[in-house]
Amino acid sequence: MRLMQHKREAFWFYRYLSNFYDKLVNPLFWTARMREKSLDIVDWSAGRQLQVLDVGSGTGFTTQGIVKRVPARNIICLDQSPQQMERAMVKPELEDCRFRLGDAENLPFADDTFDRYVSAGSIEYWPNPQRGIDEAYRVIKEGGQALMIGPIEPANPISRFIANAWMLFPPESDYHAYFRTAGFTEVDWTYVRPHWQDNERYAIAIVGTKPAPGKPPGYAERKAATAVVEAEPRGGWLGRNLLLTSRVLVGSAAGFLFIPMALLAHVTAPIRGVEGEVEPLNREQKAVLIGLGALTAFFVVRALTRKR
Ligand SMILES: C[S@@+](CC[C@H](N)C(=O)[O-])C[C@H]1O[C@@H](n2cnc3c(N)ncnc32)[C@H](O)[C@@H]1O
Repeated sequence: MRLMQHKREAFWFYRYLSNFYDKLVNPLFWTARMREKSLDIVDWSAGRQLQVLDVGSGTGFTTQGIVKRVPARNIICLDQSPQQMERAMVKPELEDCRFRLGDAENLPFADDTFDRYVSAGSIEYWPNPQRGIDEAYRVIKEGGQALMIGPIEPANPISRFIANAWMLFPPESDYHAYFRTAGFTEVDWTYVRPHWQDNERYAIAIVGTKPAPGKPPGYAERKAATAVVEAEPRGGWLGRNLLLTSRVLVGSAAGFLFIPMALLAHVTAPIRGVEGEVEPLNREQKAVLIGLGALTAFFVVRALTRKR
């Protein structure tokens, strides 16, 4: 399993990442345009009637798109990170949403509760993604829809290596298999990407309908199988915490490599002939870019002057 595809590791990762998540991470990798295109594959026509669950809601960026379609008081935001949730709670347009700490793979809701389930950019951290999608199916009503948005395993071998070291980037076929196994019908999907990304299949938004009330077929067996894995103790207290710390550190380093890679791809997009309306860099991103440029220039100049 990948370095950050664990609940405790994801928890500690977001403890500090939440400080610059909205300024640096989302505007590069999960833009408003991607969010709107993804949400648009869901049927929101019943608007005010719909009860919605947003899982792995984080700082509320996707919820900010949902509130354009459904009143905030109809939305429950669930996340395992209090730090991420605190940032969502202070956003004025999310004031009337309800917030709940919890686990995507063990949702604290009864069967057949919601009309819509949305989860964006969270599956990457789930140790048992099928279980999370089984839970999505379980908590929505018959005829309800679940929307899952997540990255697709990169085609470029270097990006793929870093991505797979970091967390779960499922091949596209896995998303279809998760939805099929859970029993969803009327499955539809679209691809989303930031403008600087030339890979059309950078991320997928996939939606399915629940055809019958209750739990998904095979739910109890799959849940029992993953419960055994979860309960398995690995080493003593020290060993477990050393493993946790090293996974968070190395996993964060792998994750952070994506920031300069994405910034570089952003500035070179016009030269590379990547099509798409440019989503401009914000102040913080420009500051990081200038910092990285200055650092690179410093090392280049130092290497050149040393040779002489
Ligand atoms: C990349 S952020 C996405 C946040 C938000 N959906 C958005 O659109 O910006 C991933 C979020 O998933 C949460 N998360 C990871 N594993 C989780 C789990 N097992 N249960 C609930 N939330 C989880 C993290 O705490 C984090 O806030």
